[in-house]
Amino acid sequence: MPLKDVRYITGVSSFDVPHRLTDVLVIGSGAAGLRCAIGAATRAKVLVVTKKGVEESLTLLAQGGIASPISSDDSVEFHIKDTIETGCGLCDERTVRMIIKEGVHAVEELIKWGVNFDKSSDGSYALASEGGHSKPRVLRSSGDATGREIERVLSERARNHPNITILENTFAIDLLTQNNRCVGAILFSSKGGKEIVWARATVLATGGAGQIYRETTNSEIASGDGIAMAYRAGAKLRDLEFVQFHPTALYVAGAIRALISEAVRGEGAYLINRFGERFMLRYHPKAELAPRDVVSRAILSDMKRTHDTQVYLTLSHLNKETHENRVKKRFPGLWRLCAAFDIDLSRDPVPVRPAAHYFIGGIKTDIFGRTSIKGLFAAGETASTALHGANRLASNSLLESLVMGKRTAVSVLKYLRKCPHLAPKTISIPPPKWNERILVRDVEDSLRSLMWWQVGIERNATELEDALKRLSFWCRYVLRNNFDTPDGWRLQNMLTVAYLVTESALMRQESRGVHYRTDFPQGDDKKWRCHIEVSRRESRSRKEK
Ligand code: FAD
Ligand code: SIN
Repeated sequence: MPLKDVRYITGVSSFDVPHRLTDVLVIGSGAAGLRCAIGAATRAKVLVVTKKGVEESLTLLAQGGIASPISSDDSVEFHIKDTIETGCGLCDERTVRMIIKEGVHAVEELIKWGVNFDKSSDGSYALASEGGHSKPRVLRSSGDATGREIERVLSERARNHPNITILENTFAIDLLTQNNRCVGAILFSSKGGKEIVWARATVLATGGAGQIYRETTNSEIASGDGIAMAYRAGAKLRDLEFVQFHPTALYVAGAIRALISEAVRGEGAYLINRFGERFMLRYHPKAELAPRDVVSRAILSDMKRTHDTQVYLTLSHLNKETHENRVKKRFPGLWRLCAAFDIDLSRDPVPVRPAAHYFIGGIKTDIFGRTSIKGLFAAGETASTALHGANRLASNSLLESLVMGKRTAVSVLKYLRKCPHLAPKTISIPPPKWNERILVRDVEDSLRSLMWWQVGIERNATELEDALKRLSFWCRYVLRNNFDTPDGWRLQNMLTVAYLVTESALMRQESRGVHYRTDFPQGDDKKWRCHIEVSRRESRSRKEK
């Protein structure tokens, strides 16, 4: 079944399922969703739904920290310049300026609300250096647990707010629209079954889609649900070909692909191959601290050359005192994780390889979080504001989620002033016709392998065309099927996003930022300094200047 023919993946009738009314429905409880909910709750009733526990999000996993130019020898202008340089010609300068400027206040607000950022011995905030930043400007908490601290403070605040109701373990399946206006969503929980929420405004804050790749630093929640829902509802999507791969995820059979922060290389770690060679010296003058896409490709190439499935991160050349005083204190989470697999970080090489990490593209929004559908807003990793261009500067995404969460709340409240109160509507959506027994996990594993091998760090037309054919084949029977549990809907979302990523990657016939085509290894500013936009309503992808 062609993607563009699918409007709903489930059926529902307002006569059969319970419904509720709210002013604002926020889908997702990471930094973007919670910050938006807290802002909107100042003048509206807000319902937050989240598919697992409140804190389960990519926000929770963030280690490196949050970038903000707060030191006296740094400036907003330096941070803007670094972001634009990293973005390889596709950042929207107005968005970059706004987010970085307002990001300074977002960080001050977090501190006021109780986020504990680490301090140096002189009492000033400890600031780390990361690739692409010309100054140390990355704030962190408890060494490598920044996301956990931010999520703790925001979720506590949201839970205690009288205008916010939180529904955990509740999966949003589809958006409801009428005349290009979003009026709510269909939800599912294992306890209560399906439910309809009529909302005057709906905000998608569903995070990334790293789960479409076999190797990823993202947790299970990152299946691109918001992007797929928005596509089915007819919203415009943008920049889907730009998937950022992180060079160093732990690669131990049986272990999750935990991120090993770039900050570990910032503290002096080397990358070596099975012969003990520090191979990055051959690839870039900045060696281990070269841009992420360069390091990821170099690792891939060295793995091929040495016939290995991994490379290794080593800190054994640092002296004992550095280990005790810097590395162990700075990365307590990583130290514990390695110890669980009997790896002593001070002595043993840590097996690593690249993994899909961050979804640069997403639902196209303006700087007020508005999508192309009235009453539908998006913020955080699921949205595309064009802050990151074709490559994201490390630690800029928590910043974006917080700033855009807050701005979206303001624009939702403005929209509510003009939007009529909703009366419950009757609605009847027929279920998909087919009830075949599909082995969800089997298709999912095949999809994730296909994306990793054919739409991964290096791409070319032959592999992309073949991938598109296979994805079309799977779409034909999976998208028309009537699933009744979240794992089936999740698979339908993953397939939708994977197809659109592949289609966009095939279309962009050049290499730019994180998108590398071996058949078009150079950038082509004349033809391709533009965004690729996709939408269900338009029959083909369209280049947007
Ligand atoms: P998330 O925090 O992912 O929240 C999404 C929410 O949506 C979750 O609550 C999820 O359950 C919910 N959801 C999704 N689908 C549905 C559905 N169908 N129904 C209901 N709920 C749904 N960025 C930095 O700036 N600095 C870092 O140091 C950093 N480190 C990172 C480390 C790792 C390992 C990873 C994976 C990412 C890191 N990032 C970092 C990126 C950053 O964490 C994310 O981009 C950011 O947290 C995204 O926030 P968000 O609110 O948009 O989404
Ligand atoms: C890292 O700590 O290396 C990840 C930071 C990020 O993705 O922004």
